[in-house]
Amino acid sequence: MKKAFVIGAGLAFSLLFSPFQQAFAAETTGELRKVDNVAHRGATGYAPENTIAAFDKGVEMKADYIEIDVQRSKDGELVIIHDNTVDRTTDGTGYVKDLTFEQIRSLDAGSWKGEEFTGEKIPTFDEVLDRYHGKTGILIELKSPELYPGIEGQVAQKLKERNLDKPQNEKIIIQSFNFESMKITNSLLPKVRIGVLTSNRAHTTEQALKEFATYADYFNPSYGIVSKELVDQVHSLGMKIQSWTVRSHEAAQFLLDMNVDGIITDYPDYVDPRK
Ligand code: G3P
Ligand code: CA
Repeated sequence: MKKAFVIGAGLAFSLLFSPFQQAFAAETTGELRKVDNVAHRGATGYAPENTIAAFDKGVEMKADYIEIDVQRSKDGELVIIHDNTVDRTTDGTGYVKDLTFEQIRSLDAGSWKGEEFTGEKIPTFDEVLDRYHGKTGILIELKSPELYPGIEGQVAQKLKERNLDKPQNEKIIIQSFNFESMKITNSLLPKVRIGVLTSNRAHTTEQALKEFATYADYFNPSYGIVSKELVDQVHSLGMKIQSWTVRSHEAAQFLLDMNVDGIITDYPDYVDPRK
C-alpha cells in the first residue's frame, strides 16, 4: 500500500469533519463510507469547463475536489484547459503549446457555454492553487504531458513553493493517462498521491494493476470498465478508485453500488446521496 501510512491520519480527520462525507454513513454495516464527490473540470454541467466560474460552482456545490487539466503555453506558463487546442472552448484557434500566455489569456473561455459567462479567462495553475487550496481538494490531471517536457518538475515546484507536497495535504492528487509521467511525478513528490487514468480494459489485468500499485495510490478508470470485481482487486492492492465521467443519475448510482471511492462528475448534485 503505497504512501497510505503517512496519510491515514489526515484522511480519518477529514472524514470526521466533512458534512458531505458524514452523509455516507453506511446504515447496514454501521461503518462510515467515504465517497469523494469530484467536480470534473469544475461543475461543468453548469458553467464553462476549467474556468473559475466552474470551479467556484463546484465549491458552492460542496464538491470534495475540483478536477483540473494542466497544460503549458509556448512561453512556459502552466494553464488550465482540457483540449490540446483552444478551438472548442474559446474564441481563438491553435495549439496551447504554440500560443504565448498573453495570447491565451486574451481569449474568451466562457461565451461558448452561454452569454452570461462571457469574459471568463483560461486560468493559470498558480491561480487555481492559490484560490482553492484549503477550500476544496484539487485533482490535478497532467494532460498530454508528452507534449510538455519537464512539466512534472514545474508542477512539483509549484506545490513545493506552497508547502503542498507534505503528507498532511491528502487533498492534492496528481493523475494522468501517461503512466511514465506519473512515475516521474511520484519520484519528485513521494508524499503526494498519484493516480493513473485509463479506459482500456487491458490495464485491468492483475499484472497491470500490480505494476500501477508500485507507484500509484489511485486507479481511476472510465465507468464503462468498472465492476465490483475490479473495485475489490484495486482495493486489495492498496489503491483507491475514482471513476469518470458521471453525467446521469443512473451512472452515479451504478458507481455508488460498485463501492468506488470517488465519483468524478460534471454534476456534483447527482452524486449527493441526500437527493
Ligand atoms: O478525471 C478524469 C477525467 O478528467 C479524464 O478524462 O478527458 O475528461 O480529462 P478527461
Ligand atoms: Ca481531466
